[in-house]
Amino acid sequence: MFDSDLIKKVYSKLPERVQKAKELLNRPMTYAEKILYAHLFETQELAAFERGTDYVDFAPDRVAMQDATAQMALLQFINSGKKRTAVPSTVHCDHLIQAQVEGKTDLSVAKDTNKEVFDFLESVSNKYGIGFWKPGAGIIHQVVLENYAFPGGMMIGTDSHTVNAGGLGMVAIGVGGADAVDVMAGMAWELKMPKMIGVKLTGKLSGWTSPKDIILKVAGILTVKGGTGAIIEYFGEGAKSLSATGKGTICNMGAEVGATTSIFAYDESMERYLNATGRSEVAEIANQMKDVLDADPEVYANPEKYYDQLIEINLSELAPHLNGPFTPDRATPVSEMKEVAKENGWPVEVSVGLIGSCTNSSYEDISRAASIAKQAEEKGLITKAEFTITPGSEQVRFTIERDGFIDTFEKIGGKVFANACGPCIGQWAREGADKQEKNTIVHSFNRNFSKRADGNPNTHAFVTSPEMVTALAIAGRLDFNPQTDTLTNKNGEEVKLDEPTGFELPPKGFDVEDAGFQAPAEDGSHVVVNVALDSNRLQLLSPFEAWDGKNITGAKLLIKAFGKCTTDHISMAGPWLRYRGHLDNISNNMLIGAVNAFNDETNKVKNQLTGAYEEVPKVQRQYKAAGIPTVVIGDQNYGEGSSREHAAMEPRHLGVRAVIVKSFARIHETNLKKQGMLGLTFANENDYDLIQEDDTFNFVDLVDFAPGKQLTLEVVHADGSKDTIQLNHTYNQQQIEWFKAGSALNLIKQQNA
Ligand code: F3S
Repeated sequence: MFDSDLIKKVYSKLPERVQKAKELLNRPMTYAEKILYAHLFETQELAAFERGTDYVDFAPDRVAMQDATAQMALLQFINSGKKRTAVPSTVHCDHLIQAQVEGKTDLSVAKDTNKEVFDFLESVSNKYGIGFWKPGAGIIHQVVLENYAFPGGMMIGTDSHTVNAGGLGMVAIGVGGADAVDVMAGMAWELKMPKMIGVKLTGKLSGWTSPKDIILKVAGILTVKGGTGAIIEYFGEGAKSLSATGKGTICNMGAEVGATTSIFAYDESMERYLNATGRSEVAEIANQMKDVLDADPEVYANPEKYYDQLIEINLSELAPHLNGPFTPDRATPVSEMKEVAKENGWPVEVSVGLIGSCTNSSYEDISRAASIAKQAEEKGLITKAEFTITPGSEQVRFTIERDGFIDTFEKIGGKVFANACGPCIGQWAREGADKQEKNTIVHSFNRNFSKRADGNPNTHAFVTSPEMVTALAIAGRLDFNPQTDTLTNKNGEEVKLDEPTGFELPPKGFDVEDAGFQAPAEDGSHVVVNVALDSNRLQLLSPFEAWDGKNITGAKLLIKAFGKCTTDHISMAGPWLRYRGHLDNISNNMLIGAVNAFNDETNKVKNQLTGAYEEVPKVQRQYKAAGIPTVVIGDQNYGEGSSREHAAMEPRHLGVRAVIVKSFARIHETNLKKQGMLGLTFANENDYDLIQEDDTFNFVDLVDFAPGKQLTLEVVHADGSKDTIQLNHTYNQQQIEWFKAGSALNLIKQQNA
C-alpha cells in the first residue's frame, strides 16, 4: 500500500535541499527545520524564515482524511476539475462508527446508518485516485503509521491527531478540509514558520512507567496552550530507547498542548517498525541518510541556543501519571491520586476502563495491558469495573487475537469494540449516560474534556497508559497504586500486581487477512459519483457565482456581531456534524451562536424587509430570495477557533457578500478569500460603532480592487444620513483573482479547462 515511488522521490531531493538551506541559514538545523525547508512549494523562494513570524508556502507529500471531514473536502475537490489528486491521498472511515454492543455488531449497524456517506466516499476515492480504507479497517492515525508515515516526509491530515505520524519521524500536521483541498488540487499549503521546543529525554523508562507518561508529564508542564505555534522535537538517549509506536503516542498527544506537531528523529526503533510493517525498502534508504534525518550534532550539544524553549525529563525518575478530569494537562502522579482525589471530591470508584484508540493501541500497548489482565486471572482477582478495548487497526486486532490477548481480555470481562474511534470521539452509546450521574472512567485516549466520551457532563475522565487503565479497572478504584498497593482476591488473600511486560513488536510478526484497503481505479474517468438528490446528509456543490465586475450596492446588514465570534459561533458543531456533507442543510446553523450587538441576543436579528426579529439563517434566506446582498459586521479576532471551512462556505452559499470586522483570525480570513468572499477590516476600528441596525451599504470603488489599496464603503443610515469609511484588506493579486472567479476552486477549474 505504501507508495515506494513517492518516498524515493522525496529522498532523492532531501539531502541537497537540506544542504542548500543550511548554507543559507549558516547555522545548524533542528530535524523538523530540515524537513520543512526541504518541502518548500515550487514558487516559494528559499529564505531564512523567522520562526513564529513568517508565512511560508509548503508542498506536503501526502494527505489523509477521516470520514467526517473528508465529505466537504471531497465535495469541493470534485469542483476543482482535477482528474486525480495532485499528491497521494487516503480516506479513512473511522469517526462514524458508534460503539455500543461489540465490534462486529456495531460495525454492521454503522455501515447501515452511514451507507450513503460511506458509498459516496468510496466512489469519490475510486474516481480520483484516493486510497480508501473501509469502515472497520481502523483509525486513521494508526493506519497511517502502519502504512504511510515515513521519516523525513511531510503530510497534512484533516484531523488534529494527524501529528501521531511524528512517531515515525514525519512532519505531520492536522488541518481543516479546505487545506486538504488545496494540496490535493496542487496548490501551496501555507503555514507560519513554527517555533521549536526541544524536549531532552535522558534515562530509561521502567516498571509501570510508559511513553504515555512522558506526554502526560509534558502536558502538565506546557498546559493546553503551551505548544501553540511550535513544533516539539524530542531527542536524547531516552528518546532512542522508546519504541516507534511509543513515540507515536507522545506525538499524538502533542495536539493536547496545542503544538503544530511533534517529532522524533530517525533511529533504530523506527527502522525496526518499518521492517515489521513491510517497509524495509524505506528503512534501507533512510539508513543511508541518517544525518539528514536528524538534527545537526551542534543542536544537541547546545540545545538552549537552537530551540526556543527547552524541557528536560529524566525517564529513570519519571512516575506514572493520571491526567484529568476534564482537561488533559492536569497531571497527577498515580502515587498522589489518593490525596488529590479526596481533596477535590472526585469519585474514586472506576466504572469503566477503556484502552486502545488512535493514541494507544499498538502491539506493545496491548501486550503490556494483557500482561496485567492475565495476572487478574492467575491471582484470583475479580475485575471490578467494566473494561473495553478499541483496536487501532484491523492489522493490530487480527494479530492480538492470533496471539491470545483478546482472549485474555475477555476472561476479565473485556469487550472489544470495532476498530474505530468510538468512545474516543463521543461515539459511545454508553448505557445510562443520559442519567448524567457523577462517575469516573479511566482511558488511554488523548482528550478528556467534559462530555467527550459519553456525553455525560458529570463523567470524570482520566487519561493514562493502557497498562495503568487495566490495573485500575481490575481494582475498580482511581486511588489504587499498583506500585505499592495490594488487592484482596476471591480467596481473601492480599495479592499484588507485578509490573507490566510486553513486546515492542509481535514476535511472530504482524498478520491480517483483510486489512480493509481498497485501491482506486487506475483510470477513474468511468466511475460515477452518486449523490441522491433527496439526501439529507450529502449535496453536490454548485460552483459559486463569479463576480459580475460591478460595485456591490444596496447591501443590507445581516448581523453586527458583538464580542467573541469563533468558527463555532459561525458554524456550530454538535448535532450539526451530521450535515457536514450537505452545505444547504448545515447552513441552517449559520451564525446562530453570534451575539447581535443591538439586542445582546443570539440568533435574533432584524429583518429589514419586514421589521421582524427572526433567526439569522431564516432572515438571510429571505434576503437571498429577494436578490439582496448582505454584509456581516464583526468584532476583534473574528473567526478564531478551528479551521472549519463551513464557517466561510455557509455565508457564501446563503448570499452574504462581505464580512467586515475589527480584526480576523488569519485562517478564517484566508478561508473567506478562498470561497470568493470579501473579508475586510475597518481602517479605523471605531467605525464599527457607526454601524446601525437598518444600514445599507454601497461599495463605491470595488471595481478598482487591487493589492494594498483601501476600499471605500458608503454606509447609508435609516434617516438618510451617510458615513463614508475606509476598509483595509490583505488580498494579493492571486487572491483578488479568486474573488473575481467566485472562489479559488473556480479559478483552478478555469486554469485546468
Ligand atoms: Fe481522533 Fe480518537 Fe479517533 S483522537 S482519530 S477520535 S480515535
